[in-house]
Amino acid sequence: MFTMMKGKNDNSKDFKVRIELRVNDAAYSLSVEPRRTLLDTLREDLHLTGTKKGCDMGECGACTVQLDDKPVYSCLLLAVECEGHDIQTIEGLTKGEKLDPIQEAFIEYDAHQCGFCTPGQIMAIRGLLKSNPDPTPEEIRVGLSGNICRCGAYHRILKAAAAAAQVYGEGDS
Ligand code: FES
Ligand code: FES
Repeated sequence: MFTMMKGKNDNSKDFKVRIELRVNDAAYSLSVEPRRTLLDTLREDLHLTGTKKGCDMGECGACTVQLDDKPVYSCLLLAVECEGHDIQTIEGLTKGEKLDPIQEAFIEYDAHQCGFCTPGQIMAIRGLLKSNPDPTPEEIRVGLSGNICRCGAYHRILKAAAAAAQVYGEGDS
């Protein structure tokens, strides 16, 4: 449960709340405005800038992270709503030098151009594969339908997702 705190001025917009967030298996104690989005908290307070801000209104998918293994738009969530949940960002996928199979597949299939959408695409695929490790091509397309690539790299993104699904399906993730 978060705690209300008063800011410097006795003004409601200066109110902050203390929250505890769990991000990439690490615990953080933060003081944030109640209106602050998870996206801004990740990028500006925790400096996890791998998660991108595109539209900031739930239309592009660039800000996709995982909340309890489900892909979510972090621009549409308030940080205060995320207490008690497990948040994973693109930074949490790499274990030491070892990339996640989805990251490996993106490299192998050259599934990015400018790369702006890539973290969100990867987190959306990971969310899909966590719930369905053996998706059909149609299920992959549906799973990625909320993630826009302005460069139009969809063909290679779908190939990379299918390749990663094979690895996840074999339980090697
Ligand atoms: S930045 Fe969140 S959906 Fe576009
Ligand atoms: S690679 Fe540029 S937006 Fe997708």
